[in-house]
Amino acid sequence: MEALNVHDYEVLARECLDENAWEYFRGGAGDESTMRENIAAFARWKLLPRTLLDVTSIDTSTTVLGTPVSSPILLAPVAMQKLAHPEGEAATARAAARAETIMVLSTSATMRPGEVAQAAPGAPRWFQVYVFRDRGITHSLIDEACAHGYSALVLTVDVPILGRREGALRAGFHLPEGLEVAGDIFEGLDPSVSWRDLEWLAGHGLPIVLKGVLTPGDASVGVEHGAAAIVVSNHGGRQLDGVPASIDALPRVVEAVDGRAEILLDSGVRRGVDVLRAVALGAQAVMIGRPVAYALAVGGEDGVVRVLQLLHDEVELGLRLLGCASIMEVGREHVEWSR
Ligand SMILES: Cc1cc2nc3c(=O)[nH]c(=O)nc-3n(C[C@H](O)[C@H](O)[C@H](O)COP(=O)(O)O)c2cc1C
Repeated sequence: MEALNVHDYEVLARECLDENAWEYFRGGAGDESTMRENIAAFARWKLLPRTLLDVTSIDTSTTVLGTPVSSPILLAPVAMQKLAHPEGEAATARAAARAETIMVLSTSATMRPGEVAQAAPGAPRWFQVYVFRDRGITHSLIDEACAHGYSALVLTVDVPILGRREGALRAGFHLPEGLEVAGDIFEGLDPSVSWRDLEWLAGHGLPIVLKGVLTPGDASVGVEHGAAAIVVSNHGGRQLDGVPASIDALPRVVEAVDGRAEILLDSGVRRGVDVLRAVALGAQAVMIGRPVAYALAVGGEDGVVRVLQLLHDEVELGLRLLGCASIMEVGREHVEWSR
């Protein structure tokens, strides 16, 4: 089967991965109601096209924290990418560079920040931070990321403790022999991390991105503590089951932040029209998680490039049909909520 969209990559990935890896990448927390809701909620936001506008040439490019990207689609931090493909995070880094976008490297990657930087020198990259009780582990990863040109620190705020993902439990999840993670999330996360720690993180001199915010209150406090960007995210439905879809949480966060920081969104983005919905509701860009893991499993670096190209093409087509010549023209008037 030739993959024509992200859903096809999911079907193909299932065929390439063993049960252990498949359940790790696929699964969500609890009854997976939030994971399903992430997809369902996008469909309730209806696009409102304008017609008879010149859409001969289309510009999907934008910037995120000052970095130019070819379209508003970034690669979310996804742990343990060597479970999907032997080249792991290096393949993803090269794919992101080829697609001219930003990769966010997970703390729990199967490669060190320095190795990933060497795979695609000069490409823009952010480093995602989990804080361990043993702060030495966290410090050494952040120092390595800073030394290798990562240009933002993404603090994931929705994991004081790991969500319970029953699919992976049932499959007896284990890290296959020979793989090592840079920072092991199954051990030693520090549940006492609080707003006070933002000051320490900001001390590294890079912009801070808070990932995993769902409420206007947290978004505001985050901005007051100096966050340069907020990622509206429920971790792809892998943490607290029962929280709203990110796309439904977005409008109130946008209102509360009121232009004081950039806003990104992830969780459930599977189509170019989802990207347009998020941008219409005030996101600067989106991030994709599972689609990257699935594409990596199916086709390594080329697979990830292809998924990004498919989404880019869908965004371009969507813009034309929406009556917008550029992503910058997409606004609140292009979307309305209805059942
Ligand atoms: C297999 C897997 C591993 C993930 N690992 C991390 C991680 O290490 N750090 C993090 O902040 N988020 C992690 N996430 C969450 C993603 O960054 C992102 O929020 C989520 O995947 C977005 O939803 P989507 O998969 O529906 O696109 C992971 C998600 C998946 C599916």
